[in-house]
Amino acid sequence: MPPPAPSLAGGLYAISDLHVAYPDNRAFTQNLRPTSEADWLLVAGDVAEHVSDVEWALRTLKERYATVVWAPGNHELWTPKEDLVQLRGEERYRHLVEVCRSLGVLTPEDPYPVWDGPGGPVTVVPMFLLYDYTFLPDGVSTKEEALAGAYSAGAVCTDEFLLHPDPYPSREAWCQARVEATERRLADRDADLPVVLVNHFPLNQEPTKILRYPLFAQWCGTRHTENWHLRYRAAAVVYGHLHIPRTTWYDGIRFEEVSVGYPREWRRRGNAPRPPRQILPPVAAPPVAPPPVPPPIAVP
Ligand SMILES: [Fe+2]
Ligand SMILES: [Fe+2]
Repeated sequence: MPPPAPSLAGGLYAISDLHVAYPDNRAFTQNLRPTSEADWLLVAGDVAEHVSDVEWALRTLKERYATVVWAPGNHELWTPKEDLVQLRGEERYRHLVEVCRSLGVLTPEDPYPVWDGPGGPVTVVPMFLLYDYTFLPDGVSTKEEALAGAYSAGAVCTDEFLLHPDPYPSREAWCQARVEATERRLADRDADLPVVLVNHFPLNQEPTKILRYPLFAQWCGTRHTENWHLRYRAAAVVYGHLHIPRTTWYDGIRFEEVSVGYPREWRRRGNAPRPPRQILPPVAAPPVAPPPVPPPIAVP
């Protein structure tokens, strides 16, 4: 079914994993255009590793879209040696929030905006939740076992070396703090409105079950959030990180994985990355039968 024609009232669109350090992805970002002056764009993390690249991309998008909402990915939170900004952990995140504020881009630290256009009103909830090594594949019962297995398979996430949790003692402690802070924010929302939840990492483990390396799931989310789509009455859930763009349904709620991913990944699917996904107004109804499972993909 083709999506409805864009209207002057605009739409709520989403994209993630722009990874603009790749020249082809930078060109794609440079060429992104809204379908209407009223469009909003949700950017669900992994814009880039260097703060200057994140700033360039978000400024470029904010010049075109009526509202831009950002949630951090793991790549923004790396501290690569070559970046002029050597802040780590929470300080790096807060610095990125300030960069966004200087651009007029909304973050998880700002009041949640309400999309009042077609398909609204809904509260748009950008979140920064991280992961806590609780997405474990079948047959693995502890974080230690999962990490050892990933090292043996040569499939260790770079976060282990570049994503520092300072001042928290661990990434799981930072995740726990983020989950608790986000629950407090969500408790204060207007409970009469449904929400669009926006997070870099999937909120439940199901989407990770088609990863080529099942052990990579430990860096992909937290079990604390597996019922949030029901608990907060989500109209839709937006995420990325897996570099497996697709639409799935859990409990009748639409989950949109909106990654662009690396050039070698999107070239397998076509000549160019897919454009931003339309979240609202909704373009699809729940399928009668489950969609076909795509082939496994590489480590994000
Ligand atoms: Fe990514
Ligand atoms: Fe990611």
